[in-house]
Amino acid sequence: MSKSVILVTGGTGYIGSHTVVELQQAGFETVIVDNLSNSSAEVVDGIARITGVRPHFEKVDCCDRHAMAAVFDKYPGITAVIHFAASKAVGESVERPLLYYRNNLVSLLNVVEEMITHAVFHIVFSSSCTVYGQPAVLPVTEDAPVQPALSPYGNTKQICEEILRDTAASCSALQAVLLRYFNPIGAHPSAEIGEWPVGVPQNLVPFITQTAAGLRKELSVFGNDYHTPDGSCIRDYINVVDLARAHVQAVNYLSGGKNNPAVETFNIGTGKGLSVLELIAAFQKATCIKLPYKITGRRAGDIEQVWANPGKAHTVLGWRAQETIEDTLRSAWKWEERIARVRRG
Ligand code: UD1
Repeated sequence: MSKSVILVTGGTGYIGSHTVVELQQAGFETVIVDNLSNSSAEVVDGIARITGVRPHFEKVDCCDRHAMAAVFDKYPGITAVIHFAASKAVGESVERPLLYYRNNLVSLLNVVEEMITHAVFHIVFSSSCTVYGQPAVLPVTEDAPVQPALSPYGNTKQICEEILRDTAASCSALQAVLLRYFNPIGAHPSAEIGEWPVGVPQNLVPFITQTAAGLRKELSVFGNDYHTPDGSCIRDYINVVDLARAHVQAVNYLSGGKNNPAVETFNIGTGKGLSVLELIAAFQKATCIKLPYKITGRRAGDIEQVWANPGKAHTVLGWRAQETIEDTLRSAWKWEERIARVRRG
């Protein structure tokens, strides 16, 4: 029997590349579509080195409807799509909202329209815990109310979820899984793939590893006057390989035909909240590197605390996070050392 083929948009990106690895290791054939706007074609080499199999790669922008149609025509065996391709910098989305609405919404519209035209009816969508804002009850469950988005980026995630719900309501064959990620961190343990931030990192862990590597003088801890035990913000940091595995489970779930309703939502987090100061301590413990940091003021738009109740993903998808925070932070550091060698040439 030939392998199922999974189309992965944004498959050379941070989460996409780790997901392609896990899919291939689970026996799927993969087709990556990526416009390389925020990633490099060398990621395909890294995937091939880890898995021993080179994924198909098409340098295509999902906003190009004709090019997307051609991809579906070229690979008639596609059985499901995992849609990652999107712009994701929160600050940039505030400065350039139209760019974010066009890119993130048009790419999903094109993908879903071409799926239906080509009778591909299973999609896994990359959503975010950002849809919950500051939840009233923690840990947050999937039925917590979605709150008004704090940025155009966050709003595109909410609108994309609605597009999929409305389309599934009118096209009964369409089946979707929405995965709401908490804070993905770390890298593949091989250090062949990882996150390569452009410019000064905005996210906490890349900033920590760049500071540990001496590229940044010190880390700023954004606020220690929150209503949390140590005053710093709390997040649910999920290992990127664990997160990637959730996509494999989601694809298997869809192909098993068990999902009811047609659009299912899952939190993908560890279920454990860590403060910024606890994360710094865990990094120091895991790597034996002393991290210079100072407490500064709050960052505008930050929520105080959020962590997942991942029980539904466990019960329904059979998924749960497995990696420890120390192993995850070691993988992030190993990746930073690897890219430091690449930067030095
Ligand atoms: C951010 C995005 C979120 C996205 C996620 C992906 C915002 C408002 N939200 O979440 O939509 O899904 O990234 O990972 O940008 N921190 C510091 N110093 C730093 C950097 C961060 O103290 O130099 C703190 C932040 O205040 C926050 C925590 O670290 O409490 C995590 O920050 P970050 O990694 O940027 O993620 P989020 O803001 O949670």
